[in-house]
This record gives sequence, C-alpha cells and structure tokens, in this order.
Amino acid sequence: MTRLAPPSPRPLDYSRADWSGAFRNVLRELDGERLEPSSGSIPPEIEGCLYRNGPGRLERAGQWVHHPFDGDGMIAAVRFADGKARFSNRFVRTEGWQQEEQEGRFLYRGVFGTQKPGGWLANAFDLRMKNIANTHVVRLGDDLLALWEASSPHALDPGSLETRGVTLLDGVLQPGEAFSAHPRFDPGHHGARRMVTFGVQAGPRSRVRLMEFAVDGPDAGRLLAERSDSFPGFAFLHDFAITPNWAVFMQNAVAFNPLPYALGLKGAAQCLASKPGQPGQFWLIPRPGSPLADQAPRRLQAPEGFVFHHLNAFEEPDAGEAGTLVLDSIVYADFPSVGPGTDFRQVDFDSLPEGQLRRFRLDLASGEVCAEDLELRCCEFATVAPSRVGLQARHAWMAVAERERGNDPLQAIEKLDLVSGERRLWSAAPRGFVSEPVMVPAADAAAEDDGWVLVLIWNAARSASDLVILRAGDLSEQAVLPLPLAIPHGLHGSWVPGSL
Ligand code: CO
Repeated sequence: MTRLAPPSPRPLDYSRADWSGAFRNVLRELDGERLEPSSGSIPPEIEGCLYRNGPGRLERAGQWVHHPFDGDGMIAAVRFADGKARFSNRFVRTEGWQQEEQEGRFLYRGVFGTQKPGGWLANAFDLRMKNIANTHVVRLGDDLLALWEASSPHALDPGSLETRGVTLLDGVLQPGEAFSAHPRFDPGHHGARRMVTFGVQAGPRSRVRLMEFAVDGPDAGRLLAERSDSFPGFAFLHDFAITPNWAVFMQNAVAFNPLPYALGLKGAAQCLASKPGQPGQFWLIPRPGSPLADQAPRRLQAPEGFVFHHLNAFEEPDAGEAGTLVLDSIVYADFPSVGPGTDFRQVDFDSLPEGQLRRFRLDLASGEVCAEDLELRCCEFATVAPSRVGLQARHAWMAVAERERGNDPLQAIEKLDLVSGERRLWSAAPRGFVSEPVMVPAADAAAEDDGWVLVLIWNAARSASDLVILRAGDLSEQAVLPLPLAIPHGLHGSWVPGSL
C-alpha cells in the first residue's frame, strides 16, 4: 500500500460548542422565502433546485435523541431561477413524527440508541421502528423521495414539499421492505439515464435486491430491471457504487448481536461490532442490462477497514470479466459508534477514527485487491460530477477537516484532482461547519469541473445556516446566502436541474 507524505499537525482552531450548537430543533417551516446574498452574487446560469435531507427534530419534552441519526427527517429546498434563490423547508410527515408531535414526547426507540422514556423495561421487546425518512432526498418521476434505508421511501411533492405518504413505487416494494438511501444515477451507460439502487435483507445470509429505474421521459419512475442475490453473513451496506457492468458493495467485517437491542439496552445500530483482524469482502453484482447480466456475483476479499460511503467506481479499459475494477471509498480504521453512556454533543473527536479516501484496485482475473491512499485528511461526503458516475473521473469534491491530520469536524471543501493529486481548499473555519457538497454542472459544461458546488454551512457566528456557492473549478466563492433558519448538521442532498 502506498502512503502519502507524513502529517504536519496544526493546533485545533474550532470550538466544540460552535460545532454542537447546530444540534437543535427546527421550529419553523418556510415557504419560498427569498434569499439575498450577504456577499457576492448568484450566478444567473444556475437554474434548478437543491434538496437536502437531515434530522430536524432532536429533542422532545427535554429528552434528546441518543444520536442525531435518530432525528426526524426535514427537507430543505433552495430553488434557483433568474439569479434569484428561494428557500423552503418541511418536515416529512411520517407516521411516527405525526404521533410524536401530537403527544409531545418520544414514542419510539431509535436505531442509533434513542430510547423511549421509562428505562430499559419500557424499551425491552419493543422492536417497532419509526421510519424517520431523514437520510437522502432524490427526484424520481413526479415524486421527491425522502429515503431511509431500513424501510419504504416517503413521496413528497417536489414543489410544495408536502408529504404524499409512504410509497411502494407502484408495487415494486413490499410494505416495510428495505430500500437504500443511496441510489446512484447512471448517466447513460446503456443508453438512457437510470437510477440504480438496492435493498438489503440482513440475516445469517443476506439478500441484496438490485433495482434499476427509468428517470427520464414518460417512463420516469418505472422499474426497468432487477435481480436478487444472497450472500453468506450479516450485511451492513449503507452505500454502493456502480460501473457500466457492475454494482459494487463493500461488506464490512461486522457482527450483529441483537440481544441488547431486544432487551431494551441499546439501539439496533449499537449492536453492530467490528470484528478486528477480520477482513471484509467486496461483493460484485453484474448489472442487469450489461453483457455480464447472466453471471453470478463475485466475492473478493477486502483489506481491513470500515466503509459507509464510496466516492465512485470505474472499470479500466476492457474490464468486463477480467479487467480491473477501481473503487474509491472513504475508509475508517474501525466502526465509529457512540456508546450507550455518551452524549453525542460531547463527543471526543480524537477518540474516533477519521475517514480517509482510499482507492481499491480489484483485479478481476486474479481476484487480488490492492489499496492506495488518495487523501489522508479527514474527509466524508465525496462526490464526482454527475456525468462521471461509474466512469473514471478526474475531479472529486468532498467535505474535509480544516486540520491536515486527525479526526475533526468537517469545516472545509476540498477539490481533489484524482490523477495529479493536486488539491484546492475552501474553508469555513474557524466558526463554520460544512455539509455534503452538491456538484451542479453547468448547462453546457465543456469540462468535467465546469459548474458550481453548493454547500450548506452551519455558521456558528450567527447561530444559523448559510448556503455557499463555489465555482466547481477553482472553489472560488461566488455567493453566501444567509438562511433565516438554523438547520442541524445534515446528511445527503441532490440537485434537480431546470424549472419545476
Ligand atoms: Co450516507
């Protein structure tokens, strides 16, 4: 494995109170509020809507969620047209959110350890899940989908953000069936664009259902192809990557002991434990519609490390059955869990492993895998231009820590040249904290990095959120749009071009 240059440590320059100040309830829902830049101007060429999802309700009746991932999903939308921007936000009206709003207290346990009031006795054997719809938001057909990987998507009106209700996607899904929060948008490897996604049924053997949906034209939203494969072992699969021929998963080496969950002592996700010294596996599923469609999946041994998110994957020329599959992933030394006795707002960043971007090269002929570090600076939420999904990309954008080494909150955006290793940085430090950058290609982009990067910032200086527009090519700041709202650190978002 090749290593990059040795660390050059710097002192911390953020305050944890600034970071944790973002964890608060969103108390207002706004509808089309005009945003005015506090600096710069909105490039008039940007036309479309940025959607973001994340936890918006973190406390009820004085009780806090154990982990922000247990907070109820709230959608924020910034609509751009004619050089102007308007902001809207709405909670997803899930069944659980509505019940808890009415009762004014938590009625459900959370997957990440939030307990109902009343101690372990009140929680024991209560395995009901609240579908909190808080992880990602994408447009599919006429619906905006609020995604949460353990259960069905919620359909929303893309304009008003009103919740239409749980959707089974015209009968594609069974009630309660798992549906990933990490679809990948195939830019047209086999003709038209597709949304490729999956669902996992985890158990002693785990089943992965791969699904490909049409996204354009009259068929938009229709299931075009699917397949189902089962693999030995408990699967924790949050994300995946695609290439023209393959859907690529990394099965982390984790064990699941459901007993503390059933007894009401821990949340389900807290019952995941890494198996130190045991490697994970890559699961490669041939995509339906590719020349390999009839083949069985392949399994290759992975190096140690824990992965939530991948950047991208691609095939070296002529990959097919015997070439090289390249997968770029954000790798942690271990599964970063918040234990039962810990307050997430007081988390000690130094005690948790940082994410680092690593390139895996999977030799499909020999089955050998080698790894190479691409970025040792703490990073998360990495993306390539939408046109390069599944293909070799030159550029990546990601959220990174301000300090060059060690685990810290994400405060800067990095553009990384994946070929030359050249880096550019835009920083919100010391009082700003970034979220996932969303890349917006220019309408007639001549180059892969022609466009903008939109980033929602937690601005601790004014205890509210800002939307920052950067030029994608050089990360120069184009505009800062202060929002009339404080939005907690969020999860994933997407860009839908054009007008509604
Ligand atoms: Co994710």
